[in-house]
Amino acid sequence: MKNSLLQKYNIAGPRYTSYPTVPFWNEKGIAYNDWISTAKKAFNESNRTEGISIYIHLPYCESLCTFCGCHKRITKQHNVEQPYIETVLKEWELYCNLFSEKPSIKEIHLGGGTPTFFSPKNLEKLIKGILSKATIAKGYEFSFEAHPNNTTKEHLQTLYELGFRRNSFGVQDYDPKVQKTINRIQPFETVKKVTDWSREIGYTSVSQDLVFGLPHQTKKSIIDTIQKTKQLKPDRIAFYSYAHVPWIKGVGQRGFDENDLPSAEEKRELYETGKKMLGELGYVEIGMDHFALKTDSMFKAIATKKLHRNFMGYTASKTQLMIGLGMSSISDSWYSFAQNEKTIEEYTEVVNKGIIPIFRGHLLSKEDLIIRRHILNIMCNFETSWEADELKFPEINECIERLKEMEQDGLVVFHKNGLTLPEKARPFVRNVCMAFDLQLIRNQPKTRIFSMTI
Ligand SMILES: C[S@@+](CC[C@H](N)C(=O)[O-])C[C@H]1O[C@@H](n2cnc3c(N)ncnc32)[C@H](O)[C@@H]1O
Ligand code: SF4
Repeated sequence: MKNSLLQKYNIAGPRYTSYPTVPFWNEKGIAYNDWISTAKKAFNESNRTEGISIYIHLPYCESLCTFCGCHKRITKQHNVEQPYIETVLKEWELYCNLFSEKPSIKEIHLGGGTPTFFSPKNLEKLIKGILSKATIAKGYEFSFEAHPNNTTKEHLQTLYELGFRRNSFGVQDYDPKVQKTINRIQPFETVKKVTDWSREIGYTSVSQDLVFGLPHQTKKSIIDTIQKTKQLKPDRIAFYSYAHVPWIKGVGQRGFDENDLPSAEEKRELYETGKKMLGELGYVEIGMDHFALKTDSMFKAIATKKLHRNFMGYTASKTQLMIGLGMSSISDSWYSFAQNEKTIEEYTEVVNKGIIPIFRGHLLSKEDLIIRRHILNIMCNFETSWEADELKFPEINECIERLKEMEQDGLVVFHKNGLTLPEKARPFVRNVCMAFDLQLIRNQPKTRIFSMTI
């Protein structure tokens, strides 16, 4: 890849885990009744055919990794587990009371924070509580995120027995200096141990998160990290670009400053080095951030055009309705988004009043729904088409015009009423989406709100 292209198209832009992206959700938020009625509508349209997905946010971590941009709460007090799980189960009950029949669950994903902060017993109580009010859909997929430092064999065994077959471990980087700076000491042996246990127990997909662009990271440390990763051969690798967003309240990025970060040029080199090595090891770049072995369902999902993207990133299957449980979780009914209260205290207080605890969201307009379709097509299938009437919109010619330069650079190929991205354009997929993002185009933010695209 020519460095000049990476340089040219490395601009601040959304990650498109939703459209409209969160900063462009309706300022007044979503009316509570609009969320409830669209969630019911989506449930009625899809529960019997594909089932629904559940995302559960488990926000606690024992110590703060100072690079982290997730919604988390740091504590060593494990007596927080029980009350939190009880609140999540109460929230689930509020949803079940809305629905006209038992939910059929296709997917459960436990994210965080650190799901393995919770004891195996409490995780079992949580999952059994969720499943007691539901049936399980055919071809279900249960997955969880885990921190290698606090994952025990018992965690893995318990979750396996509950139906979980995929997990993902945060690794980030193995270099001692990087680990010290981000306050995350995590030797290779620890990651190896949890990976070996997972395989022994029978997990079919073991994934790892790596990050490029961290403080003090060098080409040498990336090479070393990927060489170590090679020994464990995860089925999937998320290779995230470090998002430096210290202006976002509450993320707590500290202990280093801009001077400790690689320059834009160096960061691109880290990405290119990692990408090349992963390619040589047999990983295929799925889209932004994700690599998978050809044996993994995520690779197969590309071929069958089943790849989907949501708030957790890329997934190999999709349901129309995703209910987010727990503090800060985002739900998606296709027609609308809703986000839960962002602090544990507010979240708990509202659930205890018997109210579904959403605090903001967005009801998609007819135009939003069309653009959402195009952005998902581009992010997941690297192509889109406006041939069908329901995918036409008045501004399409302006969108095409905005992509002319990318076309000249060989990053977009137009055909009759559609476009395709060649393989070399995959790192730039966000830039192509930005040409379709009518919300962003009409309301260019005055201050920086997004991280860089590369
Ligand atoms: C919830 S954590 C994964 C589970 C567990 N808490 C852990 O850290 O091992 C989600 C992942 O998001 C990624 N992440 C967090 N903050 C990030 C940032 N500022 N930029 C890029 N990736 C980030 C990390 O790779 C991290 O593993
Ligand atoms: S990276 Fe994971 S363990 Fe570290 S603070 Fe973030 S969520 Fe917690």
